[in-house]
Amino acid sequence: PVAAALAGRSDLAWRLSQALAVANVIVVEGDSDVEPWVTERIGSSAGELLIDAIRDGDVIAVTGGTTVAALAKSAPVRSGLRDIQVVPARGTVGETVAYQANTIAAELAEKLGGRSVMLHIPDSLSQKALEQLLEDPYIQQRLPVIRSATVVVHGIGDALAMARRRHASDAELALLTERAAKAEAFGHYFNAYGEVVYAMQTIGLRLTDVDRSRLVVAVAGGASKAQAIAAVAQAYRIDVLVTDEGAARRLLQMK
Ligand code: BG6
Repeated sequence: PVAAALAGRSDLAWRLSQALAVANVIVVEGDSDVEPWVTERIGSSAGELLIDAIRDGDVIAVTGGTTVAALAKSAPVRSGLRDIQVVPARGTVGETVAYQANTIAAELAEKLGGRSVMLHIPDSLSQKALEQLLEDPYIQQRLPVIRSATVVVHGIGDALAMARRRHASDAELALLTERAAKAEAFGHYFNAYGEVVYAMQTIGLRLTDVDRSRLVVAVAGGASKAQAIAAVAQAYRIDVLVTDEGAARRLLQMK
């Protein structure tokens, strides 16, 4: 039965890879919506994969969220790597500390024997604050490092669920609804066609930087995220998607 279950999951992964045009898909057992510890499985599976893929000199940008946090927590220690930097993909304040990109970057850097760069700025800024910050030497030193990421590791969220988690205003929520936002990743909101319909004003990684990176790893599970995963897969190149059976089955039903 164990072998049959594994074969079933690799078949699911293969079908999903075809349907989403994502080169590598890994499907872990369960559904994170139903059993929260499935998130740990996604994290550990992605963590092992990431550790093997890292090379000397890599700049790894990570987002926040429970799934990327699970990855950092369970990633095995790897020694012998040189000149590794782990950076938060964007400013993050407002989430539980354990799920903030800064915290996750620090934890992962320790596992890889690298150093982390912190970015202590809010996730959402006014135009004026943004302009002022861009002139700040602290930011001017860090931003180019973040934007030169060679590896990007990010979570995917349902658009409205993430907007609420970030305490979006009623106006923002209305805008996202009107523009039919389905997915959120690193502060960008996407519609079902993978078009950016809204981006939070903050400092950090842009889509062009993601496209330039060598390896993009997305981690997201739960049937409720199927629509969001499908939208993001159309927006930019994802090299590896680590998800769960719940999301995978729902995604294949949608196609
Ligand atoms: C956020 C990331 O912090 O976490 C997003 O910036 C992502 O890219 C979200 O959508 C997902 O969170 P979780 O907890 O569902 O993994």
